[in-house]
Amino acid sequence: MKVLVTGGTGFIGSHTVVELLNKNYEVIIVDNYCNSKRNVLHKIYQITGKSPTFYEINICDFNSLEKVFKKEKIDAVIHFAALKSGADSIKDPGLYYTNNIEGTYNILKLMKKYSVKKIIFSSSATVYGDSQNVPIKENETIGNVISPYGMTKYLTELLLENKTKQTNDFKAISLRYFNPIGAHPSGLIGEDSPDNIPNNLILYILKVAKKELPYLKVFGNDYRTPDGSGIRDYIHVVDLAKGHIAALNYLDKMKTNYDVFNLGTGKGHTVIELIKTFEKENDIKIPYQFVERRPGDVEISYADCSKANKLMGWYAEFSMADALRDAWNFAKKTRD
Ligand code: NAD
Ligand code: WQD
Repeated sequence: MKVLVTGGTGFIGSHTVVELLNKNYEVIIVDNYCNSKRNVLHKIYQITGKSPTFYEINICDFNSLEKVFKKEKIDAVIHFAALKSGADSIKDPGLYYTNNIEGTYNILKLMKKYSVKKIIFSSSATVYGDSQNVPIKENETIGNVISPYGMTKYLTELLLENKTKQTNDFKAISLRYFNPIGAHPSGLIGEDSPDNIPNNLILYILKVAKKELPYLKVFGNDYRTPDGSGIRDYIHVVDLAKGHIAALNYLDKMKTNYDVFNLGTGKGHTVIELIKTFEKENDIKIPYQFVERRPGDVEISYADCSKANKLMGWYAEFSMADALRDAWNFAKKTRD
């Protein structure tokens, strides 16, 4: 089976490509390297002994993308390619709407033209906004998003749902990821650190661990949680990657044409718990100070994953401790 993976050299995409190759899928990657490194393809080869077909293309470039659909006989699409920073999207919403919505629209138009009937879409827990009901189930209200980035995820879910209603044999699954962390246990692929100051908790902690930043600012000490810091559901990226294989299999069994699944661990951890676990697993002190809450942050977010467990037979297997060891193992190798 030939799978087109958009954004396949990115953080989650590269781990998913590894799992696909390990399961003998034929993989075609489209990526423009706007947030990934060229050496990822070599690392994928080092891990799997296989080389996916690669096209350096912007998915917003319809004509170039069409050449891929014309040349390759694609059976299914896993669509990761997107810009992903909520904060950046507030500064430049147009960039996010163009890249994430127009890009997706091109994919869908070409899928129709070349009779590709299955797609898995990278959605996000951000579509739930500040849900008061935890653990969060898939039937929770969505769309109360705080950023244009979140809006692109919400709109794409609506677009997919609508399209599956209009077209009889077109099937789509939206996967709502909670907080992906960690790296491949080989330490060869992981999440690259930006040159500037990261917004993301783990990338910030890794910079503190590398002594590139002096201490972590913990946003808020007055949330209604055991230690006052916010609670999230941190899922190992390899578990997340495997969720895409489960979803590909489920597409063929599905009775409806559209479905949506949470991918998380089902467990919530505070920021302080995560810091303490990182310190214990990696034997590195992470100095931190509490500061004001970050505007737009939700208090508590963790997934109810029983739907993915039951219908797709998928379970997260790694713990937060495993993910924090793997994240540091990757960061150390990159530093060295
Ligand atoms: P990432 O930035 O590491 O990967 C995205 C990849 O897409 C990159 O390789 C980038 O170069 C590529 N890309 C972006 N725009 C493109 C375009 N126009 N044409 C071709 N390639 C393009 O991000 P990630 O963390 O791997 O996230 C993958 C997907 O999962 C994204 O859709 C993201 O919104 C979603 N998601 C991520 C998280 C998270 O915390 N990492 C959480 C929820 C959802
Ligand atoms: C995690 C926790 C912070 C940084 C984001 C997106 C979401 C999804 C996942 C894409 C929170 C705290 C953080 C720091 C801190 N991505 N924190 N100090 O905000 O849960 O979700 O990534 O779809 O859409 O919004 O992730 O890693 O930024 O924060 O105390 O320097 O860490 O307050 O409790 P978040 P995060």
